[in-house]
Amino acid sequence: MRFFPVKRASCVKGEILLLGDKSIACRSIIISAISCGKTTVENFPPNKDCLWTIKTFKNLGIKITQNQKVKTITVFGNGLCGLNKPKGPIFVGDSGTTLRLTLGVLAGQNFAVTLTAGKSLSGRPMLRVTAPLRMMGVEISARRTPKTKNLTPNTKFEEYPPITIRGGNLKPITYRMPVASAQVKSAILLAGLYAKGKTRVIEPVKTRDHTERMLRLFRAGIKVNENTIVIKGKKELVSPGRILIPGDISSASFFIVLATILPGSRILIKNVNLNPSRTGIIKVLKRMGADIRITNYQLPITNYEPIGDIIIKSSKLKSTIIKKEEIPSLIDELPILMVAACFAKGESVFEGVGELRIKETDRIRSMSENLKKMGADIRVLSATSRGARLPDGQGSAKFATKNGESAKHFGGNFGGKTARLEKIIIQGGRTIIGATVKSFGDHRTAMSMVVAGLAAEGKTRIDNISCINKSFPNFLSLLKTIIQ
Ligand code: S3P
Repeated sequence: MRFFPVKRASCVKGEILLLGDKSIACRSIIISAISCGKTTVENFPPNKDCLWTIKTFKNLGIKITQNQKVKTITVFGNGLCGLNKPKGPIFVGDSGTTLRLTLGVLAGQNFAVTLTAGKSLSGRPMLRVTAPLRMMGVEISARRTPKTKNLTPNTKFEEYPPITIRGGNLKPITYRMPVASAQVKSAILLAGLYAKGKTRVIEPVKTRDHTERMLRLFRAGIKVNENTIVIKGKKELVSPGRILIPGDISSASFFIVLATILPGSRILIKNVNLNPSRTGIIKVLKRMGADIRITNYQLPITNYEPIGDIIIKSSKLKSTIIKKEEIPSLIDELPILMVAACFAKGESVFEGVGELRIKETDRIRSMSENLKKMGADIRVLSATSRGARLPDGQGSAKFATKNGESAKHFGGNFGGKTARLEKIIIQGGRTIIGATVKSFGDHRTAMSMVVAGLAAEGKTRIDNISCINKSFPNFLSLLKTIIQ
């Protein structure tokens, strides 16, 4: 195995420009494909996940051309019901966004198709999306296993890819989501485009709203009132002709944390997406004392996505408490925030982080195992099924760590029925020392460990970092331009 070596950097300085946001880019293909007209997508990121979205829609008969030199793709939309039955099953790689959102549009097509996935995505729960789609009248079958963990609330089994779906004749539903998930919300909204009448989705906590913004841009009948989104079905979407994908704030987060924790640093990141449903990382870091300034804030296309430049100067961090309600706005940034907490003075607490267990890998495990090897003081508190009652009356739970710590950290309302009552507690300020760590095949764990290694004393080795290509193929080359 080839280990990737990282040694301490003195500081980072300079200016960087990021490729387009993965979530928005993925949606741009899906929504353009089912709209009327041609859409040119600019600043399209050629990461693995987005390439899987392109392949999936090419397999469904959509013409898509790519001009890699200018990072532009053109999607030739075929209308709501214009997808073609593919010759065989479609492999969607390990892209969860591609799989879950594509199920939403397949729910409205009049043919059967099987979606298969790579190893990591094949182990991620799908009942959260198949269940509401079935309520709308879609025929779906998936690999089903008895449930061992509390993955989707109140069921005895869980479902995984491969998934076979036969769409058509959808009825509108009102769906109160048991889990805060933008992918699930988006799948239902996309299916709602095909139902006769109004489909309502109610979120427990607001999640990223890129689908809503883009559907509005394509002139869908969509209304948002606090946590309720209503979509009117049977209305064709109209392409705006051109979409610019703003820089990816999740990619920016690695540089933001690095510049904050390496003394003497100052960097400028240009044209980053500043959608409030994604800027939790900035709010939390500022609360911790980070020196982060936004300039050139603008809305490139009315009502689409806000964009701006971010200036970061190094600063001393203090600990914070991240509340459950904040998690959706920084869900993908939790690994790098764990690194930041190791460099902050005092005890940081990350509440309601259970969803991290079911990302590309179990990120609670990957990050805490790695950071502990580097000398960090991290404890994870998990709920078991016995003991104290949950505040929302959904049964009982007992909290324990390996060293027998009790429930004192779990006061307050957990809300919802998911009962993912996990907390991470990090005692910051300990010396972080280079070690041999693992990416666990997960892009965000790998990049977080590169950042930790650059700020640690001594040398770090990471087992395999090719997984970074899933979201950020030019991560290392950009990093090299700013390391002093
Ligand atoms: C995403 C939503 C989030 C996020 C994922 C991308 C999206 O997942 O973690 O990386 O594009 O909608 P969940 O919807 O499962 O929270």
